Amino acid sequence: MSTFEHKDLLSIKQLSISDIQIILEVANSLKELIHRDIKKVPTLRGKNVTLFFYEPSTRTRTSFEIAAKILSADTVSISASASSMQKGETLLDTVKTLQAMNPDLLVIRHSSSGAPHFIAKNIKASVVNAGDGINEHPTQALLDLFTIKEKKGDIKGLNVAIIGDIAHSRVARSDILALKKMGADVTVSGPPTMMPPDIESLGVNVCYDPYEAVRNKDVVIGLRIQLERQRTFLFPSLREYANFFGINRKMLELTKPDAIIMHPGPMNRGVEIMSDVADSNRSVILDQVTNGVAVRMAILYLLIGSQK
Ligand code: CP
Repeated sequence: MSTFEHKDLLSIKQLSISDIQIILEVANSLKELIHRDIKKVPTLRGKNVTLFFYEPSTRTRTSFEIAAKILSADTVSISASASSMQKGETLLDTVKTLQAMNPDLLVIRHSSSGAPHFIAKNIKASVVNAGDGINEHPTQALLDLFTIKEKKGDIKGLNVAIIGDIAHSRVARSDILALKKMGADVTVSGPPTMMPPDIESLGVNVCYDPYEAVRNKDVVIGLRIQLERQRTFLFPSLREYANFFGINRKMLELTKPDAIIMHPGPMNRGVEIMSDVADSNRSVILDQVTNGVAVRMAILYLLIGSQK
């Protein structure tokens, strides 16, 4: 296996196919740790992982913390509301302050696109992007790839539909980059007001009819409506959005019979996905959550665990 030569994990763009394969292979070998009675190995003993979340999170934050703890790293958690940024401290001063305490790795989620990249340039510690504005959410895309590979085998040649608020979704952007890199065919669907004008430059098919978009697909990924990132209402009402674009049983019947349904969470049940689909035997949404721990263990190990 070739080596993983990165200080930071900021985007899918920075990763080669070989880098992605390494992350998925390491995650696969570490996944069994999650199900042990004693969930602890000494791999990252003596390392410090700081979790810095400027936006709310359940899955990403918890899974990074669990991943770090399984590998015996010490963790510190900071939220924006409880940090001195509330008193006017700049992001750069906050970063310099954190650097002075010599963390090994900083996991950051921020509402501004590019904030983790800015921090990575100004800190010696490794930086992992846990979601920056509408730009990228690379670790979500990697756990999505892991889940697809686990359920479907090879990713190359699969037909994937991504349905919803493409324009405001960092998950959509990272998923598209990752799936295309690994050889999948990707179709995106959503209201025209939620479709970035340059989306075709990413090599995807655009289909405004979600029923056509899911036809004969192997994988359907639903996206959360990002109301917090929309400056104006981009559709008349949530009910109308649900009627046109909500993933429902009829859509499920148009996919391949063994297609899987994914959603990064948190879900707006009854809006972008109906409960009977989210809870169906085709849904792998909770597998995605479990796999998030495995993939994040792999990322921590590859960035600060292996001696370079
Ligand atoms: N998928 C995801 O990033 O979920 P959280 O916002 O709960 O971390």
